[in-house]
Amino acid sequence: SITSVRAEQVLDSRGWPTISVALTLDDGSVHEAAAPAGASTGAFEAVELRDDAPEYSGRGVLNAVAGVEGAVAATLTATPWDGIRQLDDALRELDGTPNLARLGANAIVAVSMAASRGFAHLAGVPLYVWIAAQTGSDPLMPVPHFNVLNGGAHAANDLDFQEFMIAPVGVGSEQDAVRAGSETYHALQAAVRDQFHTAGLGDEGGFAPPIANPVQALDLLVAAIATAGYTTDQVKVAIDPAANGFYLGDGNYQVDGRRLDRRQLVDYYDGLLGDYPIWSLEDGMAENDFEGWQLLFERVGDRAQVMGDDLFVTDPARIRQGAAEHYANSALIKVNQIGTVSQTFDAIAAARENDMTCMVSHRSGETPDTFIADLVVGTGVGQIKSGAPARGERVAKYNRLMSIERSEPRLRYGLR
Ligand code: PGA
Ligand code: ZN
Repeated sequence: SITSVRAEQVLDSRGWPTISVALTLDDGSVHEAAAPAGASTGAFEAVELRDDAPEYSGRGVLNAVAGVEGAVAATLTATPWDGIRQLDDALRELDGTPNLARLGANAIVAVSMAASRGFAHLAGVPLYVWIAAQTGSDPLMPVPHFNVLNGGAHAANDLDFQEFMIAPVGVGSEQDAVRAGSETYHALQAAVRDQFHTAGLGDEGGFAPPIANPVQALDLLVAAIATAGYTTDQVKVAIDPAANGFYLGDGNYQVDGRRLDRRQLVDYYDGLLGDYPIWSLEDGMAENDFEGWQLLFERVGDRAQVMGDDLFVTDPARIRQGAAEHYANSALIKVNQIGTVSQTFDAIAAARENDMTCMVSHRSGETPDTFIADLVVGTGVGQIKSGAPARGERVAKYNRLMSIERSEPRLRYGLR
C-alpha cells in the first residue's frame, strides 16, 4: 500500500512551473512522475490547475501541489489499491468535475503515472511489460517521429504549420531510427545555418528558421533526408499543421497569408501529399470543423494517416464518434489530455476497436520523465512523437526506447 504522497513545484522545458509527484510504498520504494504541459491545447482537454497569483505570471502550481499533499494523499494512503483503474477512478471521484478542474489534470496525471510505476514495481516487471499486461497488448518498438522544423504556437517565425517531422518507417530497429533522426537533424541544421544564418529552435527542439511557406519547410526536409544518405522509403515525413492555430472560423483558414476555405485547404493538402513523402497528417482541420474533417478524410484517408489530436483529446467517446462520423483513421494519445493512465488505455482500446491507428505523444512543455516511452512500447501502437532528436527532455524518451530495445532485442521495430 501507499504510505506517503509528496509533490513539489519544478520547472518544465519552457521554464514554467509544473508538478512532480513521489509516492512511497510500504516496502520503502519511491515512485516519481512529472506532468508535461501543452501550448496549443485543445478546447476539450482536461484542464490544468494554475495558481491565480502574481508569481510566475500566474503559472505557479502550488495549489495543485497542496491538493496532492492534502486530499489526494489522504485518499491514497487510506486503503490498499487493487489496481490502477480503481485508483484512477478514486482520483476522478475526489476531483468531482468532468475535466479535472478542481484538483487539476496536471496534479492527477502525475499521481496516476507515479502510481502506475508503483504497480509495475509490485509486479516485479519493467513499466512497459506491466502496461502490456494491463492492456492485453503485444509490445512493439515504435517508429519515432522527430519534429525537426517548428512553427505555429511553438516558434517565433511566421510558419503557420506547427510541426514538420521525419519518420524512419523503413529502417530495421530503434537504434537505426534514432541514428537516422540524428543524422537528418544535423544535415538540416547545416542547411538552415547556411541559408538563414541562424539555427534557433522552437519549443520542441526543431529549427525555427524565418520561413512562412509550408512548401519551403518540406523542401528543406526532403533535402536533409537525401543529404543524410536516406531514401524517402526509409525516412518519410509527417506533419501536424495544428489547424486550430490558423482557423479563421466559418470554414476558413489562413496559410502563408492566403485565405483558404475548407475545400481549398483539402486541395492544398492533397497537393502536398502528391508532391512530398508525407505519410501522416495530424490536425489538418480545426477541432470544431467537422465538415472539414469529413472532406479531408474522404479525399486522402486511403493514402495517408489522418490523425486527430485536438479533435479527439485522447477521449474514448470522441474517438468513437470520430470513427462513426468518418473524421479520421488515427488518434494522437496524450496522457494529460484525458488525465489518467487507465483512461488513456481506454482511448487506445477505443481506437483499436474502430481499426484506427494511434501515436503516443509528448507535450511541447516537457520534463525528463520517460513514461510515454514505456507507454508506447507496452501498448504496441508502433508510433511516438517526442520532438527533435536533441534537448534533454526530448531525448530522454528516445534514449529510454533504445534502452528497452537493448534489454529486449527480440522486440520487433516498426508500425503496427
Ligand atoms: P502542445 O502541441 O503540446 O503544445 O499542445 C503538441 C501537438 O499539437 O501535437
Ligand atoms: Zn497536435
